[in-house]
Amino acid sequence: MSFDTPDGAIEAVRGLDFTLAPGETLGIVGESGSGKSQTVLALMGLLAANGRVTGSARYRERELIGAGERELTRVRGNRIGMIFQDPMTSLNPHLRIATQMTEVLTHHKGLSRREALDRSVAMLEAVRIPDAARRIRYYPHEFSGGMRQRIMIAISLLCEPDILIADEPTTALDVTVQAEILDLMRDLRERFDTAVILITHDLGVVAGTCERLLVMHDGAVVESGSADEIFYRPRHDYTRRLLAAVPRLDRPA
Ligand SMILES: Nc1ncnc2c1ncn2[C@@H]1O[C@H](COP(=O)(O)OP(=O)(O)O)[C@@H](O)[C@H]1O
Ligand SMILES: [Mg+2]
Repeated sequence: MSFDTPDGAIEAVRGLDFTLAPGETLGIVGESGSGKSQTVLALMGLLAANGRVTGSARYRERELIGAGERELTRVRGNRIGMIFQDPMTSLNPHLRIATQMTEVLTHHKGLSRREALDRSVAMLEAVRIPDAARRIRYYPHEFSGGMRQRIMIAISLLCEPDILIADEPTTALDVTVQAEILDLMRDLRERFDTAVILITHDLGVVAGTCERLLVMHDGAVVESGSADEIFYRPRHDYTRRLLAAVPRLDRPA
């Protein structure tokens, strides 16, 4: 995938090739600017206006690259959910959480308002929001950053998507809250049998979470394999450098 710029085309991602099995968790790891976000935005048809993508990406039998906006809208939010680093960019600050959640279900699933509200409260409970039946009436700013990210996860899971794409979901959070969110995501993946693509610049985040990893550098995959292979037998120098940046409990700092 490339971007047209006044100085010519910039190739942002090239030669990417991967599969995601049902229920699997894949980590995409690499330093900032390595092409992680553009990769998944390209899959979802969400590139900036100057972005172009070639190749093929199949979700079940459907070709996503070049698919029409109607088809992509059906897939996004319904079959493939996404959450980002900053939940405030996806939540509407002027609407109560109840409105934002129930709209997803009345729109995508054709539920009545009552059914939609019940399911929304249940989903907030699933992401461990205390007193969910009352707090669903709150506005986004009435929640902490960690709580807002839980709410985003709840919204993205409402339609029981096959795939959840999480782009740096814990980067803006402090370490304790980060650990809670990752623990929650592991729990939800088992409960809802959702495949997850977890994107991060921090190998520490994918350590206990992902079964398989892609390591990206400068728009290309430099290494891929099981999390164990990559943690214990990294082949690429770049991966070793990323690993060296992860604080570990089993050796002195
Ligand atoms: N609209 C754009 N025009 C030109 N270059 C872009 C645009 N959006 C992103 N890029 C470039 O694409 C590259 C990959 O970015 P990105 O996928 O966001 O990296 P990250 O791995 O941090 O998520 C970066 O070099 C970034 O500057
Ligand atoms: Mg990014």
